[in-house]
Amino acid sequence: MIIENKYKNSTYYTHGFHPYPAKFTPQIVNKFFNLYCKHGFTILDPFCGSGTTLVEGVLNGMDSVGIDLNPIAYIISRAKLNQYTEKEIQSVRDFIVKIQPQVNNGLFAQNNIPINEDVSVPDFPNRNHWFQENVSYELTILKKKIDEIENKNIKDLLYCAFSKIIVKVSNQDSEVRYTAKKKNHPDGTVFFAFTETVKNYLQVLNKNEHSIIAKAEVYNGDTREVLKNLPENLFDFVITSPPYINTFDYYLYHKQRMFWLGFDHRPVRQNEIGNHHRIDTKKFEVAKSEYIDSMTQIMNELSRVSKPTSYFVIIIGDGIVKGTTIDMSHVIAEICEHCNYSIEKIESVNLSDITRSFNKKFSNATKKEHTITLKNYK
Ligand SMILES: C[S@@+](CC[C@H](N)C(=O)[O-])C[C@H]1O[C@@H](n2cnc3c(N)ncnc32)[C@H](O)[C@@H]1O
Repeated sequence: MIIENKYKNSTYYTHGFHPYPAKFTPQIVNKFFNLYCKHGFTILDPFCGSGTTLVEGVLNGMDSVGIDLNPIAYIISRAKLNQYTEKEIQSVRDFIVKIQPQVNNGLFAQNNIPINEDVSVPDFPNRNHWFQENVSYELTILKKKIDEIENKNIKDLLYCAFSKIIVKVSNQDSEVRYTAKKKNHPDGTVFFAFTETVKNYLQVLNKNEHSIIAKAEVYNGDTREVLKNLPENLFDFVITSPPYINTFDYYLYHKQRMFWLGFDHRPVRQNEIGNHHRIDTKKFEVAKSEYIDSMTQIMNELSRVSKPTSYFVIIIGDGIVKGTTIDMSHVIAEICEHCNYSIEKIESVNLSDITRSFNKKFSNATKKEHTITLKNYK
């Protein structure tokens, strides 16, 4: 039996470490754990994003595996799942103390001339449009300091905090509005935002209210490829929110973060299933059949790596292409005809009725979100 989720908000424990588009609420995941799982199970989220499923899994005593193409998703998931030792927590505290002078004084201050001329700020398209010069300078120095740390767990946590503050310290209007506006960030902005974020993380990790009682593994790669290397019959339960047709562009959401953390966004854009970029550059019918091919390949692999008669829950929103709503429950049903899954149940709700703020922004009256329960009949 899985522990009944007693939390009303969706940011308890490490769930609030980093924003992520179309993030699961932990309560939804927990509801399906209660229906289909028990302690000791091994579970999989093949499009794990920020790792919500995996965090809930390990808190409920289930070994949890996640896959995501996006390197930012990988960093967030790792930071949320790592078990930090007292020594590691202390090192994080020490790091914060060491950078405190920069919070107070800033680094760029003196007449807008960088104090340390040796710092080479990374060059990427439109950097000066999205970032003030003093902000770029501080981000470069902070990133260099984190790079120098050897411990992987500490690095994950600090990179996650670094990633979290990127939009806040940039000129970007908000997480979901890609317009630039003048924010006049004073010197020290980066270091202040970063230390506040890390302090919040430490508060969560110090609480000791939750304990991780199972193992977690996160793969950063294309689900189509990663699944091929996993053994048969490994998983007792699969749950995911996959990309849909003409889905949100996850790479775009994290593009600036990827620049700053030294990742190339182009392979992510290229391999993201269903994104606008794919639809825009191809005829719709071609993009749709590409989506169906990719998902059929993935679902066949999911059937292979999962145990016979195990359940697979898909939570998916409808896609809209050139004003026409694509009912994704029909698309999934079509895919099931080509793999070893039978549909047990479909529940659909209007997206406009769902209170999740991210979805609201992208919802319209005709769009639905479907929860589709499948059974592996291999
Ligand atoms: C709806 S989001 C998952 C959000 C997740 N449930 C959470 O709570 O954060 C879908 C994810 O699919 C990932 N994705 C898209 N194409 C992929 C691919 N080919 N291989 C692996 N992941 C992919 C995106 O990077 C995105 O993180």
